[in-house]
Parts: sequence; C-alpha cells; structure tokens
Amino acid sequence: MQSDKQAENRKKTKRKAGRRPAGPFDLCDNETYRDWRAAKLAASPASVSELVVEISDLAAPGEAERAALISLCRKANMAIYTSRPSQTGDGRVRDDLRSFARALGLHRVERHRSAADDGIVAIEVAGDGSRKGYIPYSDRPLSWHTDGYYNGPADRIGALVLHCVREADEGGESGLLDPEIAYIRLRDENPDFIAAFMHAEAMTIPANVEDNGKVRAPSTGPVFAVDPRTGKLNMRYSARGRNIVWRDDPDTLAAVHFLASILANGDRYIFRHKFAPGQGLICNNVLHNRTGFKNPAALSGRGNRLLYRLRYPERIAGTG
Ligand SMILES: [Fe+2]
Repeated sequence: MQSDKQAENRKKTKRKAGRRPAGPFDLCDNETYRDWRAAKLAASPASVSELVVEISDLAAPGEAERAALISLCRKANMAIYTSRPSQTGDGRVRDDLRSFARALGLHRVERHRSAADDGIVAIEVAGDGSRKGYIPYSDRPLSWHTDGYYNGPADRIGALVLHCVREADEGGESGLLDPEIAYIRLRDENPDFIAAFMHAEAMTIPANVEDNGKVRAPSTGPVFAVDPRTGKLNMRYSARGRNIVWRDDPDTLAAVHFLASILANGDRYIFRHKFAPGQGLICNNVLHNRTGFKNPAALSGRGNRLLYRLRYPERIAGTG
C-alpha cells in the first residue's frame, strides 16, 4: 500500500512539472500505462540480431529498408544498420551519413563544440584539441548515458546516428538499452522513482571550464521528460559518479541506485554489440555505454578505432 505521504509527494511533483496530457507516462493514468507496457514488451526485439537492417546504399536507403528501420525504432527506439564499408574515402562517408539521416527525417544536425563544419563528430582517441581529456575521445570504458545529458532542457538530443568507420582490434563493444524499458523497470519497482526522475531539479551537471576558457553553464533538469507535443519520452541520464549532482531526496537517490543496479547487473533488453565497419546505430537517443578498447594500430596497420556521430533535436521520422 502506498502511504498518504507518497501519494501527496507524487501530486506535488505533478503540479510542479506542469500539465501533461494523460498517457502511458502519466503516473495518474495506470490503465493506459498497463496497456502500453504490455504492448511495448510484447513488441520489443529479444536479441540484437532482430535490430539489424541491411542497407544497400547508405546515401539513399530504399523504401523497404527505410520502413524496416522506422518500424524497429517504433518498437525499440533503435535500429542497427549494416552498409558496405566505404572504399572511397572519408568525405564520401560523411556526405552519405547526412543524407541517410535526412532520409530518416533528421535534418537539424547539432552544432557540437567538437563537430566539424558538417556537424559530424569523430569519436576517436584524441591526444590534443578540444576533445582531449574527455572519456569519449579516449580508449577507456564509457559509462551508461544518453547523449547530451549535460545540455539544458531546451537542448535535449532527440536522435543520434553513430557510424563505425574502423573498429578496435580488442574491445570497444557497445551496450544499448531503450529508455522506455528503463522507465518500465523503474515504474514497476516504485512509481515514486518516476516522480523523482521527472522532477525539474532531479539532475544537475555543474559548470565546466574548457581549455579555451569557455564556460558551459550548469545544467539542471529532469531525467525523464515527456514532450508535450508528441507525448513521447526523452531521457537525460549519466551513470558517472563525478561531476553530477542528484537532487538530495530519498526517492531520487533510491531511483539512481536502482537504475545503476539494472545497468550494472543486466536486463534481458540490454543489447551488446560491437559495430563493424559500415555498421551503425540510428536511435531516439537510447541509453548506451562502451567497453574500453585496445588498438595496437602500429601492429595492425589499419588505423585507430573511428566512429562518426551526428545528433539531432528531433526524433526519427514516424516515431512521434
Ligand atoms: Fe554517447
């Protein structure tokens, strides 16, 4: 039985979060949640192989290929595409990737601090420049997160494409989890976890002073937010232990602990995959991590692990 205090806290959080239309993510609408949950789990792919779609021409996916990608993104918020590894050089892949993303309804590429003029960020070991010192640009393990968790609520990342140009010799495997599954696990455990994660001050990333002296302002916002236009869920999360401040209340801290334990101990819907050259992830900003890797490039002569990343504020076409 829920206590009166818990019910009252939930109402207060709802009032603070503002009015949202009833739907599966509304804590007062259990019936819609139950129906949505049952349909979601029934449709969710059971293995990583069910997420894979072959694309014959990355720059111009065919109608059936496009439909398969969208269908997967509707069910699981993600798909893995396999295309022919590029034989024609770096510039061609970059152009192809942008046109691939456009074919899936992604047009407004984010202008990230580490992006080139075309908005593409090279994820590789970087010894200098603006990427130096950040874990994504090292060979160290990267903990669970959604992209842009350090952005303010107005700059949430809706979708991203992560494309493998060169794989690591050892390691560099990705973990993937649909945020809607994380939501289900948390709500089933304790609906107060959801109320805590929807609080406007749930998670703060402190200000960051970069090498060039520029300061990124502190960013405070909820973990889960529902887009009032589409009714779709967006998640802002990082499992990192440093430089993150959780709202100091028991439900928030318990929710953080519970989610971290799922991510660490596994879930049947956590998929693990090592992207091969020509393969990539297209997703509505799902939770992901990466194992550490080794690239004895001097031995293999193939060059270092390289992935290209494009991020967008919008969601993939046909997914809300
Ligand atoms: Fe990421």
